[in-house]
Amino acid sequence: MSEGREGRGCSPLDRLVMELDGALRTLHGRPRVSERPPPDQGLEEGALTPAQRDHIARLMRINHSGEVCAQALYQGQALTAQLPTVRAQMERAAVEESDHLAWCERRIQELGGRKSLLNPLWYVGSLSLGAAAGLAGDRWSLGFVAETERQVEAHLTDHLAQLPEEDHKSRAVLQQMREDEGAHARAAVAGGAAHLPLPLRLAMKFSAKLMTTSVYRL
Ligand SMILES: [Fe+2]
Ligand SMILES: [Fe+2]
Repeated sequence: MSEGREGRGCSPLDRLVMELDGALRTLHGRPRVSERPPPDQGLEEGALTPAQRDHIARLMRINHSGEVCAQALYQGQALTAQLPTVRAQMERAAVEESDHLAWCERRIQELGGRKSLLNPLWYVGSLSLGAAAGLAGDRWSLGFVAETERQVEAHLTDHLAQLPEEDHKSRAVLQQMREDEGAHARAAVAGGAAHLPLPLRLAMKFSAKLMTTSVYRL
């Protein structure tokens, strides 16, 4: 559980200040992480060519930006979700997404890459989407979480298939992330998530594609 979010009796202004703090930590600071060690801790760096390192650093940059989006989505929903239980659930998931954010950033650095220049843009867009989903009601909000997590799970499977055999470190990180995203999706479904209509699911896939393509370069 993130510190400073424990109080359920906080005013909208208190929550706004906490969200601003969350935004700054996500984009420029150290995210609040759980006690879990990075999944690749203790694993040896594989023998990778410069071209492989560059490609994997770009894949990890995409995953890092995806986690920036996840932070913003959850924070946006936490701002507007109506039921306290749903808000608490969003905040718990957001802390686990913080682990992912930190793990991806660490791996990017190890590979000599850099984070995306477009992250502030994804953050603002995702925060607005999350807040809109929260306003639509808790069932829809959870439905949005479930669909997002399912799409991220599929995306991570694709990235795992692209990793060279030797890169045990990135594999360990992405496998744990995929496991967590699956658990987030199942929790949202168990919490009463609505099934999103096909056009909305397709629109989400399209925006994700736009994000991944541009972040690979920028
Ligand atoms: Fe994540
Ligand atoms: Fe997730």
